[in-house]
Amino acid sequence: MKFLIVSGNPKKEGLCADITAIIENGARDGGAEVEVLTVGGLARCHVCGDGWGICRDENKCAFGGDGFDEAQKKMEEADAICLVTPVYWWEVEESLKGFIDRLRRCEFSFLSPDGALAGKQTLLVTSAGGSGNGLLTALEQLDRFCQHVGLTVFDRFGFNRWNHGYKKPAVYAAARAIAEGQVNGATVV
Ligand SMILES: Cc1cc2nc3c(=O)[nH]c(=O)nc-3n(C[C@H](O)[C@H](O)[C@H](O)COP(=O)(O)O)c2cc1C
Repeated sequence: MKFLIVSGNPKKEGLCADITAIIENGARDGGAEVEVLTVGGLARCHVCGDGWGICRDENKCAFGGDGFDEAQKKMEEADAICLVTPVYWWEVEESLKGFIDRLRRCEFSFLSPDGALAGKQTLLVTSAGGSGNGLLTALEQLDRFCQHVGLTVFDRFGFNRWNHGYKKPAVYAAARAIAEGQVNGATVV
């Protein structure tokens, strides 16, 4: 299976980078082919047209040539997804937020089972540094995106400076479980 980790984290080192590497290891140890997609260089939505551009009817962005088309294709081709973000201002870091804002316009499938992203097992991870505040509000933003595009949330993790020690083994296990084929709703015995 293809396991895609999507991040906007601008840092190569630190807590968020450590967690991302652990997720990568978990998915790989579970047998997945893993890719980390960094969306830091992408522009935000231009909000063209009168609020909707071609995105609603054509499922693509009019400005997709900036790398967005490629990122959208990777999302569509992935079997499982992890969205991982540092918490900035109690929210999802700006470049990942910009990417999911753009993507949901193209992949909107609320309550529809036939969207290109519908049903993919998805891991949501937020990493707060300073106060530790904003884990939940950022998770909520990611969760809402998943609902809009039909992604199935497998699990949610909020990391901060004092809980990462005991949560790292759990996020490794979650990524590995997804890669091994475990799905939301299936009871583990
Ligand atoms: C612009 C900005 C805003 C931030 N806002 C928050 C915040 O609201 N809550 C928090 O706990 N940490 C906040 N942080 C700290 C980051 O969440 C933290 O750097 C990151 O999640 C994890 O640490 P890392 O930088 O070692 O990867 C902020 C950092 C930046 C750069």
